[in-house]
Amino acid sequence: MLVDFRPTGKLRGKKPVDATAALGPVIDALVEDSVDLSRARVVCDWVQYRNNFRDVVDIRPILASHDRNSEVTPVALAAVVTEEQMEVAIDLRRSGEVELKDFTRELMRAGGASGDPSRVYLEPWLVTSASIIWDFNALYWKALDVWEQATGQPYEKTLPGGESDARNRDAVREMITSLFALWDSLAARNALPEELYVVELGPGNGNQAKAWLDEFVALDQEHGSDYYRRLHYLMGDYSPHVVELARAAVADHAQHVSAFVLDATQPLTALGFLRYKIFLVYISNVYDNLPADEVAQIGGRTYIVETRAYLTRQAAAEIAHTVSAQPDEIPGLIRKLIRLGPALLAEALPAHFPSVQVAAEFWQRCWAALRLEERYQPLAGLDLYQIAPGVSGEMLRPLLESGADIRMHVSNGAVASFVDTVPLLHPFGRLICYDLFVTDLHNYRTSFRGPGKYDGSVVNWLNGPLLAHIGRRKGFDVDYQRFAHRTGTNIVTMTAQVRD
Ligand SMILES: C[S@@+](CC[C@H](N)C(=O)[O-])C[C@H]1O[C@@H](n2cnc3c(N)ncnc32)[C@H](O)[C@@H]1O
Repeated sequence: MLVDFRPTGKLRGKKPVDATAALGPVIDALVEDSVDLSRARVVCDWVQYRNNFRDVVDIRPILASHDRNSEVTPVALAAVVTEEQMEVAIDLRRSGEVELKDFTRELMRAGGASGDPSRVYLEPWLVTSASIIWDFNALYWKALDVWEQATGQPYEKTLPGGESDARNRDAVREMITSLFALWDSLAARNALPEELYVVELGPGNGNQAKAWLDEFVALDQEHGSDYYRRLHYLMGDYSPHVVELARAAVADHAQHVSAFVLDATQPLTALGFLRYKIFLVYISNVYDNLPADEVAQIGGRTYIVETRAYLTRQAAAEIAHTVSAQPDEIPGLIRKLIRLGPALLAEALPAHFPSVQVAAEFWQRCWAALRLEERYQPLAGLDLYQIAPGVSGEMLRPLLESGADIRMHVSNGAVASFVDTVPLLHPFGRLICYDLFVTDLHNYRTSFRGPGKYDGSVVNWLNGPLLAHIGRRKGFDVDYQRFAHRTGTNIVTMTAQVRD
């Protein structure tokens, strides 16, 4: 049996974690069961997100061969592993909340290929980027007004620090000052185009854009260069509601702003006419909100993590009771919620949802109760897996083969966005992104990096070394620096520009 204790930093310090108190009862439960202990792994994490998709203990099959019920393309496998293995995952932060031994014993008994009868499943096994959690995420941004009305607080308050770092004046000033320096040097060579384009992806409530544009005007006046007159600030978001919010927030700059619906994973579709013309692509807290898979290297083999969303039958029964439904009707009602949104859902099914508020509460309860079962599906060849359009899974190889076993994000949405954005950049242009980046792969071996729940949305750290590796292959330098303008933040600034 192998024990992978990841949060080693928690074993020391003022309040060290009692590792044996968590491991002991779980191992006792395994020993009592008839499971082949030589094929078991126990993994301990510290899940820092209070709201997340995990249970205190989870059991994850490590499949020996391709499961016919998988949505992942079947692959011919070298018959290296012939027996299924099993991973038992413990969330140490919550390990004191349950009787661990009983809890694990029950889980071992309930699990089975066809599923645990004490769970109501919302989807078949899927790669995580295809999970219903991303439909919930998109719904959150689409119907943000309904959600915020129900919680009584704007989404920005739920971010660490209570507001986006993209509003930080010093950071904005630094960015604009260096843009002016570039424009001055191009102007001195008669190489500055008349139109000066800046693009922001995922503007949220528009506060970031407002901070940027207000500062731009002030600095331009100081600078005396008349750049504001030539500025075009383009904002694209996939939520029409967010687009309107952001547009309203920058009404003072209406002459210089265009706001439109755009999927951040395919910016070229709408912005292709600006190829090589954009001086700055500005993205904050969006990449961590784009769909992502996870892959793992375990015992020399490569796996993709498959997930299956569920509610416990108890949670489903409690939720069903609030909307005059049966527990087994909940998956269908959730699908309708996602298709229609809370307002239309209340109109379409008044017997279950007599008001938008009831529909919103249903949405929030389902989201809070939503969990993900996981299993490891073997991948025979990385070249058979696509990270994003035109980006082969082979890009993962140096990272997966970087040492000991590892499980990491593929950041598929961020990679898709990145490779579809860089062709827009002017040869001296830059992509600047504030987000949660893992910058040292070893971090994946010592910390939990998502997915977690932020209010009604998903948060996932980003695989920085992977983005840098793909960037280099495309001829771009990708640099990561700790966000310099607020202490204690986990935000990292990623900068990408054409390699010198
Ligand atoms: C956490 S907010 C960030 C808002 C703002 N940039 C900030 O830093 O405060 C994430 C934004 O990304 C947008 N978003 C998420 N996925 C997207 C996608 N696939 N295409 C476009 N926008 C997306 C959301 O609608 C939301 O506006």
